[in-house]
Amino acid sequence: MPQPDDSAIDLAPFELLTETADQPVYDLPTRLRDVYAGAIGFESPCVYANFVSSVDGVVTLGPEQSSPGSLISGNSRADRFVMGLLRACADTVLLGAGTLRDSPGHRWTPAHVFPDAAAEFAELRRRLKRTESPRLVVVTAGGDIDVLHSGLVPGSVIVTSDVGARHLMHRLPAGVEVRSLGEPPNLSVQRVVESLRGDGDGVILTEGGPTLVGQLLRGHLVNELFLTLSPVLLGRSSSEPRPGLVDATAFAVASAPALSLSSARRHGSHLFLRYAVEGTRWPASPPSAVPPEAAPVAR
Ligand SMILES: NC(=O)c1ccc[n+]([C@@H]2O[C@H](COP(=O)([O-])OP(=O)(O)OC[C@H]3O[C@@H](n4cnc5c(N)ncnc54)[C@H](OP(=O)(O)O)[C@@H]3O)[C@@H](O)[C@H]2O)c1
Repeated sequence: MPQPDDSAIDLAPFELLTETADQPVYDLPTRLRDVYAGAIGFESPCVYANFVSSVDGVVTLGPEQSSPGSLISGNSRADRFVMGLLRACADTVLLGAGTLRDSPGHRWTPAHVFPDAAAEFAELRRRLKRTESPRLVVVTAGGDIDVLHSGLVPGSVIVTSDVGARHLMHRLPAGVEVRSLGEPPNLSVQRVVESLRGDGDGVILTEGGPTLVGQLLRGHLVNELFLTLSPVLLGRSSSEPRPGLVDATAFAVASAPALSLSSARRHGSHLFLRYAVEGTRWPASPPSAVPPEAAPVAR
């Protein structure tokens, strides 16, 4: 594991614009705190989502364009830092197979997105008594994924249907688990989350994509949303639909998930917004129920 050294992280600090006072906070290494302009933490259990979007709401550019998040963020190092920090806080990173397919060569670790803070992310995980990296969990109905994808490492889990499991069985690298939740192929996302909770994973980060997150939101399973607003307008057309962060799910206006702003930071013209999602099925436990080793510390 990399060890922190004396050099500062080469990224100008975020500017904290607003933050509610009731946020749980982890014991962040000083250099992470300095750059992030404050602390961060999560109660357990919780599910939090992270997306980068253009100002007009585009989060993906279509199947021909791999790794659209980097393009949409303008390759923002500040966005990559936040991605790394959010991963460093999580037991699990949960993805839909579409995001895995569109991210060749990626690894869902804190250090992969922001290597300059690898040592500090590792130190944070040591303090939280988390494993070296969050485990990757991919949801697929049909199992049509690249079994040699670099993100699938020992400990990763593919949650799928019986059909998907038959397709993947005996093809995955050693240590990658195939977990069938049975028929039908379109899995209940509530059962997916329950299955991860059954493994003891309290703090779940989902990095999407829009299809999976739409279902998680419809199931009232997302506690918080981290949204990076990138200072660009990308537009869309019938030939390039360019979904927003919820796709294949439409909410009635009267019952749409309501968000309340927990914090806002800026880095240049990028905005980093943290929202609480109201009416979530699994409210975070009261502090007394958080395991002592992962308990938030006082600010
Ligand atoms: N800008 C950002 O921050 C951001 C974040 C995340 C993703 N993205 C982009 O979004 C795009 C992918 O979007 P997407 O909506 O297609 O992807 P997605 O939600 O990641 O994946 C959709 C796929 O996940 C599986 N899936 C989802 N829900 C399921 C369920 N209930 N049961 C079984 N399988 C389920 C299915 O896989 P199978 O087809 O294998 O059955 C489905 O086709 C990519 O370009 C990605 O890079 C952008």
